[in-house]
Amino acid sequence: MKVNTVPTRTIWPVENCAVRIIDQTALPHAFRTLELKTLADAAHAIRSMQVRGAPLIGVTAAYGVALALADSDNSEALADAIATLAVTRPTAVNLRWALDRMQRLLSALPAGMRTDAAWREAAAIAEEDFEQCRKIGEHGLALLQELAEKSGRLDVMTHCNAGWLATVDYGTALAPIYAAFDGGIDIHVWVSETRPRNQGLLTAWELAQHGVPHTVIADNAAGWLIAREEVDAVIVGADRVAANGDVANKVGTYLKALAAKASGVPFYVAAPRSTIDFACASGAGIPIEERDGDELRVIHGVDNDGSPSNVRQLAAAEPVANPAFDVTPAELVTALITERGPCPATHEALNTLYRENM
Ligand code: MRU
Repeated sequence: MKVNTVPTRTIWPVENCAVRIIDQTALPHAFRTLELKTLADAAHAIRSMQVRGAPLIGVTAAYGVALALADSDNSEALADAIATLAVTRPTAVNLRWALDRMQRLLSALPAGMRTDAAWREAAAIAEEDFEQCRKIGEHGLALLQELAEKSGRLDVMTHCNAGWLATVDYGTALAPIYAAFDGGIDIHVWVSETRPRNQGLLTAWELAQHGVPHTVIADNAAGWLIAREEVDAVIVGADRVAANGDVANKVGTYLKALAAKASGVPFYVAAPRSTIDFACASGAGIPIEERDGDELRVIHGVDNDGSPSNVRQLAAAEPVANPAFDVTPAELVTALITERGPCPATHEALNTLYRENM
């Protein structure tokens, strides 16, 4: 996608000795990139959410393994890299998926051969993510075209940021929206703010860069807009899809799914293979990240001069709970949109689509 008309990805290698990322903690107020040079840099980028979004977390972790093997690629260095990165964030299964893939490949190679192979594999994971998101866009477009034929103009609601910033490019939930907009469909996006980290503001920034009409809403406005028939479809991404089709995504997703069900509005979840956890039987087995309470207590923004600024809205001693994700039961999901096409959120459908996992 483009930033100020320049085609840009979220992550790219620099001469196979560093990795450049977009620092998402500075957005939407400032666009800046950062260089990751070490395993510690990569782990910090994931933990602090300089990079975020399930697919991008996985790709960054893969590059983190390559960075870690710069000085030594012996088995201890490999094991240390995998262990360090694995605990950075718990919910997005793309992290574990990417690390497992790196470990399988690299541990089968002798020391001395692993570093170049790690850079190649991380780049392959990034390219696959690019291609899978492009395909999710194509498959989701077909669903949106059907809806647009009925209603002319389309109003789509999304939650959090499941756009190109959350992947290598295109995004998951936003890929069909970009494809629809580029294909001439009259589309408008309701963007929920997504407290407390406000990833909806990243979505608004992305959509503005591409010229897609959108409106930011407070999270609490979503149910009312859906009930008032101002939403033709809800499309969100996922951090983990369990084998039975239950979906973990940014906290607040479940409420939108309930509202959509109550009003007969389609609720789509766009996710690539790397987000499906066949080893996790149902949503009950998905670990939900509990984040620092200061994310609720302190609001970040810019002051009137545009300088970064914090406002404390709750005292440090105020007890808060900050679960970062929730689980939407499969029966509330109209369809999953994968790179292999749409499918019902069921065990049978997922197994049919990904037969190689049976
Ligand atoms: O905490 P975040 O910002 O990493 O959470 C991101 C989400 O919940 C996204 O919706 C999800 O990862 C899908 S990204 C294509």
